[in-house]
Amino acid sequence: MTAKRKILMTCALPYANGYIHLGHLVEYLQADFWARFQTMRGHECTFICADDTHGTPIMVKAREQGITPETLIAKSYEEHTKDFADFQVKFSRYGSTNSEENRLLCEYFYKKFVEGGHTRTQAIQQLYCEHDKMFLPDRFVKGTCPNCKSKDQYGDSCDVCGATYAPSDMKDVHCSLCGTAPVLKGSESIFFKLNDFKAYLEEWIPKHCAPEVGKKMLEWFSADLLDLDISRDEPYFGFAIPGTNNKKFFYVWVDAPMGYMSTTEQWAKTHGKTLKDIWQDPDREIYHFIGKDIARFHTIFWPAFLKAAEFRSPNQVFVHGHLMVNGEKMSKSKGTFIAARTYLNHLNPEYLRFYYATKLTSSVDDIDLNLEEFVNRVNSELVGKITNLGSRGGQMLKKKMDGVMSTPDSEGLQLLEAAQKKAEVIAGFYENRDFAKAFAEIRTLADDANKYFDEKAPWKTLEADPAGTKQVITTTLNIFRMLAIFMKPVLPEYTLKVEKLLGEKDYIWDDAQKILTNRPINDYEHLATRVEADKVKAMVEESRKINEEIAAAKAASSKPAAAASAPTKSAKAEPVDPNAYAPEIEFADFEKVDLRIGHIVEAEEIKEADKLLRLKVDIGGGQIRQIISGIKAAYKAESMVGRQVLVCVNLKPRKMKFGMSEGMILAAGTGGSDLFVLSADAGAKVGQRVK
Ligand code: MSP
Ligand code: ZN
Repeated sequence: MTAKRKILMTCALPYANGYIHLGHLVEYLQADFWARFQTMRGHECTFICADDTHGTPIMVKAREQGITPETLIAKSYEEHTKDFADFQVKFSRYGSTNSEENRLLCEYFYKKFVEGGHTRTQAIQQLYCEHDKMFLPDRFVKGTCPNCKSKDQYGDSCDVCGATYAPSDMKDVHCSLCGTAPVLKGSESIFFKLNDFKAYLEEWIPKHCAPEVGKKMLEWFSADLLDLDISRDEPYFGFAIPGTNNKKFFYVWVDAPMGYMSTTEQWAKTHGKTLKDIWQDPDREIYHFIGKDIARFHTIFWPAFLKAAEFRSPNQVFVHGHLMVNGEKMSKSKGTFIAARTYLNHLNPEYLRFYYATKLTSSVDDIDLNLEEFVNRVNSELVGKITNLGSRGGQMLKKKMDGVMSTPDSEGLQLLEAAQKKAEVIAGFYENRDFAKAFAEIRTLADDANKYFDEKAPWKTLEADPAGTKQVITTTLNIFRMLAIFMKPVLPEYTLKVEKLLGEKDYIWDDAQKILTNRPINDYEHLATRVEADKVKAMVEESRKINEEIAAAKAASSKPAAAASAPTKSAKAEPVDPNAYAPEIEFADFEKVDLRIGHIVEAEEIKEADKLLRLKVDIGGGQIRQIISGIKAAYKAESMVGRQVLVCVNLKPRKMKFGMSEGMILAAGTGGSDLFVLSADAGAKVGQRVK
């Protein structure tokens, strides 16, 4: 074995405004395989990740839900860490970019940028929504594509024709949140002078990522590199830039990669060390695992930041491709955009770990999750070929014999020695992140062992030749044990059960060089059951349904409904203080309130008011009431027209600044955008009393 290495590795930090899905897991699982492999090889491997918590989308999502960004990111943190734990992804530390360490680090980097003369300011014009009171990033602007004239396209690119452009090129530009036309507002921005690092990066890139990635990145280098706008104006959820009076904030892609370092710092502190002890340790290798969509941030911006702040750069950036499902992009309507949690509701996480391992290579090519192949491969290889060796061998030895191994026969010994020789080959594939090749070797070894077992047919020789039979089983169990060791980085819990069966603990890679002889085994515990195709179907169906419900909810209100949290079927209850309920009343008191089914025939926004919509509601008996309702932040006027609602019709009319309000429509929620208008089940008729 080689000398003990010190490795620091990271995965990209998932955004806190989304849930973990099977696409993410392409990355987190392969990194976890690699980390566990390095640890089994006796190296010190620290595996770092965190939630990426800042930026406009998170701020907007929190607003929509009527909660603070801090509450939103706390919720995501819980869900993300639970998803990862349940998929057996074992980080040394999982942090958050919204930490004090990260803030200080950002400020430190910025100080170095300024001191090095790598910043400049420039007045720029940006789109600003006066209704939402915020600057609009391109993704929050919609309009007509200048190329193909498709309506309602994003401000940076068109989903229909694929053209990329600036919002200023578009017609009919509007805020994607409220639909109003934004205005251009001048502001001063702080730029990072990326071009200062052009020569450095041109040399750095080819040495620190795969050639296919490097080539793509260097395409940006035919001209000067554009300076990067690292500031964002308030309101912005992020870290204030020192010296700007809390008016400007670091762009999220500045503080996000620093999350790698600040989380490392937190880990270091718990190990009696400092960030520099770890990050600047010349003997430590640093690796970033990322997807191809964010290669530019990691191979151009990030190394330039590090250089400017006089930190060392990573050894390699490992870039993987994207997940396809059944040969296509993941699709919400087809149910193939599958949340980690939805998968876990139906299937064993180790099956996905196994399947991904059999597919993953070190190339940047996309990987395909073919659901039929997934079922077949788990059933035929993991259950049929590999697990069968352990279950047949273990059960025979325990149930039909005295439960004690003997020694391999000579043919068996040859088989075992051949497998032992493969240990370094398989290790080489793991090291190079060619997991598919490692698993092809494992499959071949399993095939050979099955052939041996079937030829020897120990179930037939048991009576006539118990000693010889025992040798065959001893061989079979030893091969099975080796396969479990080779698969341990991918199947840690499975392997734990194998360790238990054989009365061992904590396999390391070199344990494959041992052969167990003359020792008892424990009772056989079930290792893996076949995947039922029905469960896969049910998972896809659940995904499809959830996304359909989200889409329907979104269409019914102005609120983009995709929640930060993983989609779930049953709504979560809000914590309620039972003492906060209103005091008991008599039924007669309740009867005083006249609630009716109403039908909204007209709705308009009251421009001068932040919160109010003017509704005309048919309450039956030929009566149309004007109701002024404080739901504007949660519902667009046009989405209310035609809706059935519950109306209190005997509330004393109230004269308001914008006219009389002659009733009230009922809604749940805390106010602002956190409001949910009530309606009756289908069949209820306008004017019917509610009681
Ligand atoms: N927050 C940024 C990363 C900041 S790193 C300083 C981000 N987050 S993400 O949640 O969108 O993605 C996290 C990682 O998962 C990225 O490396 C991304 O490439 C990967 N994947 C997200 N969807 C994926 C697929 N569908 N397929 C494979 N990997 C994908 O980017
Ligand atoms: Zn707006």
